Amino acid sequence: MLVNGALLRKAKKHYAIGAFDVNNLEMVKAVVSACVKEQSPVIIQTTEKAIHYAGVDYLSSMIRIAAKQPVPVVLHLDHGKSLDTVRLCIENGYTSVMFDGSRLPFNQNVRITKQVVALAKPKKITVEAELGIIPGKEDYVSASENFYTDPKVAKKFLAATKVDSLAVAIGTKHGLNEKEISHGMKKGHLKLRLDILKELGEIDVPLVLHGGSDVPARDIKKCIRLGVAKINIDTELRVAFKSAVENFIKKNPGVYDPREIMTPAMERIEEVVKRKVKEFGSSKKA
Ligand code: G3H
Ligand code: ZN
Repeated sequence: MLVNGALLRKAKKHYAIGAFDVNNLEMVKAVVSACVKEQSPVIIQTTEKAIHYAGVDYLSSMIRIAAKQPVPVVLHLDHGKSLDTVRLCIENGYTSVMFDGSRLPFNQNVRITKQVVALAKPKKITVEAELGIIPGKEDYVSASENFYTDPKVAKKFLAATKVDSLAVAIGTKHGLNEKEISHGMKKGHLKLRLDILKELGEIDVPLVLHGGSDVPARDIKKCIRLGVAKINIDTELRVAFKSAVENFIKKNPGVYDPREIMTPAMERIEEVVKRKVKEFGSSKKA
């Protein structure tokens, strides 16, 4: 069933819900199939680049059909950068939206986030905002610096905007850099500021961990205990997709049927999602 992001409140400090970035049919089917098998709620999200690639109507139709499965499914906009994108997603049946004003001056971030909340709340659409700067690159979002979220500023921001969840910068990063790609597609060692997360976790709002790929399971567990209720995963799905297609073509150079080429990619993504959902503790929470 299609639901909004209010389910994060129940999860906070107990488990986290995986938010998986998708941009085609194969990814949608693999993510949902894994969550049905694990009996886990799931957030399926699309970036602005995914919307430009596949079309908001195609993406939302596929995900709304996927939501007929017997697990809660949230259809979420990831890193929306403008009110226009937010409006487009609301018009197309998204149940949750992120406005990412993290690169804007504080007052401007507050002003636009409040406009997003005013658009979304009457339609029971939940809103995620971001404070601090998460380094790395994901689609149209990129930053070279790391700027940790200040808990005092976060309190002020939440009181002013009344968003439903907050993405925080505590040391994770988006995507892979060139060195990581050439060394087998793993992120470098991350040093998480759990002291900052502890303070942020005391604020009455579910926290969102962006850059969730390749964060070791023991750190994930600590983050959940401290208040992270949504964990975003994109890079690990892309890497699984790419390596499955690459291996299949290498082993089967004569096959040119896209269905045969895509099947191992779907299987690999399903494996990744099942593993993540178990790590996040959301199995059997549907
Ligand atoms: O918004 C999406 C996530 O923050 C993706 O992070 O590059 O670690 O998968 P990732
Ligand atoms: Zn992100």
